[in-house]
Amino acid sequence: MIRCLVNFLEFLVNRFYRNRWYPRFYVLETVARVPYFAYISVLHLYESLGCWRKADWLKVHFAESWNELHHLLIMESLGGDRQWLDCFIARHAALVYYWIIVFLYLIAPHSAYYFAELVERHAYHTYDTFLQEKGDELKVLEAPPIAINYYRDGDLYMFDEFQTSHLPAERRPIVNNLYDVFVAIRDDEEEHIKTMVACQKSDAQFILKSPHNKVIHSA
Ligand SMILES: [Fe+2]
Ligand SMILES: [Fe+2]
Repeated sequence: MIRCLVNFLEFLVNRFYRNRWYPRFYVLETVARVPYFAYISVLHLYESLGCWRKADWLKVHFAESWNELHHLLIMESLGGDRQWLDCFIARHAALVYYWIIVFLYLIAPHSAYYFAELVERHAYHTYDTFLQEKGDELKVLEAPPIAINYYRDGDLYMFDEFQTSHLPAERRPIVNNLYDVFVAIRDDEEEHIKTMVACQKSDAQFILKSPHNKVIHSA
């Protein structure tokens, strides 16, 4: 059922945004943050009720939402949010999606993570196709300042924090042009897939750690 729903959403996005790449990415990235908001909301509820404490998961999911926020800021800097209708579609889709994931996470957390895994796989393939089709054009365009700051020149703590398959500072993207930025975004989506897969494992609550806490515990 989850796969069918994701396929249907994919079909709608592909049809409606066939050649409008940046508005398409803007919609995708607006919606991409929502599962992480939903997980954080439910985990906070469990903490408030005193029945579960998963500080590492809160940190990792927040860092994932922070990463998706920066994808969104990059798309906005490229003009993806210029049309009112695209903003309307993205925000309303995000609102509906948020409540679906909240309820799904409450009753079946594995399914909620599987849903996000499929969405992240779709994002990865969308960016990969874009790089193959538009690579030469992107290589002569400048990287937006927001991307340079997030991936290269700014504080990279949050960038390291969402990648549970790496130790801090293991992955440092090159950001010299717009092509590099989209490579970094595509590779980020792959990291989200890995984290979503890890969250579905039966022993996830014991093995999933924030990358910075892994360093503290191994010291
Ligand atoms: Fe993204
Ligand atoms: Fe994503």
